[in-house]
Parts: sequence; C-alpha cells; structure tokens
Amino acid sequence: MTINPKIPLSQFNDFIKKLELQALETAEERMPLYLKIGIKDARKILDVGCGSGMVTRDIAHLTKGKVIGIDGSKEMINVANKILKNYKNVELKVGNAEDVPFDDNFFDIVTCNLVLMWAEKPQKVVNEMARVCKPGGKVLASLEPDYGGKLHYPEDQKVDPIFAGKAIKKRGGDPHIGRKLRLLFVRAGLKTVVGIGNNRIWSCEEDKAYYHHARDFYVKALKDEGLSQKEVDRWEYEYLRSLDEGVQLNFFPQFYAIGTKPEA
Ligand SMILES: C[S@@+](CC[C@H](N)C(=O)[O-])C[C@H]1O[C@@H](n2cnc3c(N)ncnc32)[C@H](O)[C@@H]1O
Repeated sequence: MTINPKIPLSQFNDFIKKLELQALETAEERMPLYLKIGIKDARKILDVGCGSGMVTRDIAHLTKGKVIGIDGSKEMINVANKILKNYKNVELKVGNAEDVPFDDNFFDIVTCNLVLMWAEKPQKVVNEMARVCKPGGKVLASLEPDYGGKLHYPEDQKVDPIFAGKAIKKRGGDPHIGRKLRLLFVRAGLKTVVGIGNNRIWSCEEDKAYYHHARDFYVKALKDEGLSQKEVDRWEYEYLRSLDEGVQLNFFPQFYAIGTKPEA
C-alpha cells in the first residue's frame, strides 16, 4: 500500500511537518471529543490511519488504556514509532483500514482523524471500525473537512476554486467527505451524532503562521493547476497583503461523527 494522500517520497518530510502542524492547530477541537466519548476510562483504543502518530500521542495522553495505531504506510509507522517511543501505552503496526487486523468487538473506542477523506473506500473503513468496536463502544471520526463549505474573502476567482476542492481531488482525496459522515456512520449500523468541530474563526495572524508553514504545499498545488510563477507571485502578494492588513477571512467546516455500536 502507498501513502494516501499520494505523496512522493521527496515531499514526505514536508508532509510530516504539515501533519504535526495540523495536529497542533486542531487539538482544541479534538480533545473535547475524546473526553466526550470516554477515552479516559477506555481500556482498549484503536486509532485507524494514525499516520505520523501526532494525533495518537494526544489520545495516549488522555488515557491509561492501551492505544493501538495502524496505518497502511510503513514509512508513516516508522515515523510514528520514533515520535511515540517513550509511550508505554502505545503500540503501532502496519495495517489496512479497509481490512482491520483485529477480531470483532475488540476495542472500547475506535478513532480516526483526517483519514476518511483520503481512504479509497471510506464506507469499508467505517464498517471495519464498527466491526472491531465492542457493543456499546464508540466510533469517532474526529475531523473530516468539507471544502464545499469553504469561505475565503477577499475573493480570488482563479485560485479560490483550487483550494476549495480541486487540489484535494487531484491528490486522490474527497473534498466533500464532511457531508457524507452521517451516511457512512448510519450505513455502518452506528447510532450517530454529527457535529462541527471548528466553530472558531482563526485570526489573520494564525492564518499567516499556517500559510508560512504550509507554503510549499500551496505553491505546488497552484503550479500543478497550471499557474505560472508570475501568477503564483501575484496571488501570494495579495494573499499576504490582506492578512497583513488584518482583513482576510478563511473558514471551512470540519465535521465530526460519533457512533455508538448497538448492544447485541
Ligand atoms: C492525512 S493523514 C492523517 C494522519 C493522522 N490521522 C493525523 O491526523 O495526523 C491520512 C493517513 O491515512 C492513512 N491511510 C489512508 N488510507 C488508508 C488505509 N486504507 N489503511 C490504512 N491507512 C490509510 C495514510 O497512510 C495517512 O497516514
């Protein structure tokens, strides 16, 4: 299995940095969800598509239970093993989310973060998460975005559509996964509650800091869409100018779903 999003190995380190930043920036949204589903008292937790382990580490902090992380990419698991080497309650292994290598009804809690957007068969992933969860246990997709609800102002007619889904699609992701969460969870037989994780609008300073960390990804996405260096420079100048002026507004909804597996 390859890393999905399909990242060439030359960009692997940048991608790891991006995951780290994302984990930091979304902690305030994810932490309450983990507590809400009872992570503190859970004994066995599975984090599906754990990637570099940044989010798994947050989970491990909140529980005395055992946390198992699986990811389809061996390279990701190697990174996660380094990041989590001092965590005695964490175990990591390579594994396919569409065919989870555990028995039925094994875990108290099964989580994933930003995985369904990249999964080739998201329904299969949620079905598997439900299968390995105990009756009465919880399945959580903590953050899955929907770029169809993306707002960006002042507008840029050429660039906005690229960041409102086109770039994600090109890399094999589903930019509209957020709106599908309820369907995926209900069809997996889970009693489902869906909500929006991010109800705070970032300040221009936060948006700017994020842009500078992820700049290579933005620029590459624009070039992949055929923009010339001159067009990229023009866009970046205007983008940073409205951030410096403190007038830019960015928002896109990130949904979560909590499913309870019915008692048998
Ligand atoms: C955007 S990363 C998110 C990683 C981590 N959950 C986080 O939030 O930092 C998506 C991860 O899902 C993994 N993934 C995608 N499809 C998978 C599958 N079918 N089985 C296992 N892992 C998968 C990728 O390898 C990648 O590490």
